[in-house]
Amino acid sequence: MPTALAATTNPLADELTNGRRAEPCALVIFGASGDLTKRKLVPSLMGLAKDGLLPPSFAVVGFARRQWTDEEFRDELRDGVQQFGRRGTPAMFDALQDAFTYHQSDFSDPTGYFALRERLDRLDKERGTKGNRIFYLATPPSAYSQILQNLASAGLSRDDLENNRFARVIVEKPFGRDLATAQSLNEQIRAAFYEGQVFRIDHYLGKETVQNILALRFANGIFEPLWNEKYVDHVQITVAESIGVGSRGGYFEESGIIRDMIQNHLLQVLTLVAMEPPIALTANSVRDEKVKVLKAIRSFAPHEVAAATVRGQYAAASFGGEDVNGYLEEEGVAADSSTETFAAVRLQVNNWRWAGTPFFLRSGKRLPRRVTEVAIHFKRPPLTLFDRGSVQPNVLLLRIQPDEGVSLRFGSKVPGPDVRVRDVRMDFRYGAAFGGESADAYERLLLDAMLGDGTLFARRDEVEEAWRIVDSIVAGWKKDGRKPEPYAAGTWGPEGSARLLGEGRTWRQP
Ligand code: BG6
Repeated sequence: MPTALAATTNPLADELTNGRRAEPCALVIFGASGDLTKRKLVPSLMGLAKDGLLPPSFAVVGFARRQWTDEEFRDELRDGVQQFGRRGTPAMFDALQDAFTYHQSDFSDPTGYFALRERLDRLDKERGTKGNRIFYLATPPSAYSQILQNLASAGLSRDDLENNRFARVIVEKPFGRDLATAQSLNEQIRAAFYEGQVFRIDHYLGKETVQNILALRFANGIFEPLWNEKYVDHVQITVAESIGVGSRGGYFEESGIIRDMIQNHLLQVLTLVAMEPPIALTANSVRDEKVKVLKAIRSFAPHEVAAATVRGQYAAASFGGEDVNGYLEEEGVAADSSTETFAAVRLQVNNWRWAGTPFFLRSGKRLPRRVTEVAIHFKRPPLTLFDRGSVQPNVLLLRIQPDEGVSLRFGSKVPGPDVRVRDVRMDFRYGAAFGGESADAYERLLLDAMLGDGTLFARRDEVEEAWRIVDSIVAGWKKDGRKPEPYAAGTWGPEGSARLLGEGRTWRQP
């Protein structure tokens, strides 16, 4: 008998989903014994359950190497919900736990996939999942290729549209480590699934406030006329984190901040800020416009890279009341590593809207605080009537996290007999306007994958264009051979990052 999983219903759920309802389905998580499942995926499923947004018939199959029983698997997940669940509770997990089962197999063993197929067929009968399957690749990328091939060989990757049965695949980052590896991964995916079945995760796209960039721009009449090179001097996109690399030193050595953050999250945010209005809010219309932005960014020649970028690496310092390691002292990091933990990049979108307006992207670990924001810096008025020193250019600030909101900085007369102008702020805060906490990005993305809506996922061409740009930066750094500039943990990156902006511009201090 199908089991109804909706624990409670949320009157807003219809609005969140535009009344769309996810079809019954089974979610197979490869690498289910790993961190992502415990920290993010299952707590997010509980968040969806809380809002009554899970499909009416639903099952989760954890696929991994470890020898676990269903019970051990569930204990681990319950513990994850307890530790990391923002909205779901262990009691909620207990009510739904029958839906979670464990499938032990090696990723490279074809028989494990035939057995999976039989298990899924059984679940269709027992739990009413109707032959719909979503495969979530939450393993290290080195396992992707085997999993994809084995899914295809076991006949699990095919949609059966005549019988209304879907098969979809969700792919986690990192999506390759350069253009060549991303293309090869895309080819492997294509050998098993067609593009409409593929959902490449960039969890920044699932953040409410990132989605609000489109609403702010295209649901309002007043911003769009100003949103171009005539009025915008430059744009700053900052994703700062106060944490260091922690136990992920080994991974970070291979990626650096450019691959870990800029290739995906920051370039995705840039596309939403810079894109033309789409003809509709459908997955391909939105992604068509986003990819055009990336195509309009030229690859750098190696000799251009030094002037357009800054690399930094955090050094030991006293930060937040404790003595923190420098990057070179972190576990898994080579003592002479030249991996960057901070990067700032100046990009030019070469189209009619943006010619001459630079986009500055910066991201780093061990910066003073965790903050993600987009600052649109407008040009000064054509004539200075007031004391130039006291009037700053207008800034429209999109605060992505934390303290989500939008604010506008403008000059106002200070009350009194003198004509003095000072900056003031008009402020919109999500919390105050809408109350409550917004859903985790993974909730939204899991739900959209169940609904088959790819708008908030990266398409093949987007990922490849982003790698093309990043590869050209990495090639310039390699040729240049210099080490990243050190910066003390708890500061806003190396001194060189200020130079990048050029005359008369400064980084915002969030
Ligand atoms: C991940 C990176 O993609 O994003 C991490 O691999 C980073 O290094 C994280 O810490 C930041 O995500 P968020 O949602 O905390 O801003």
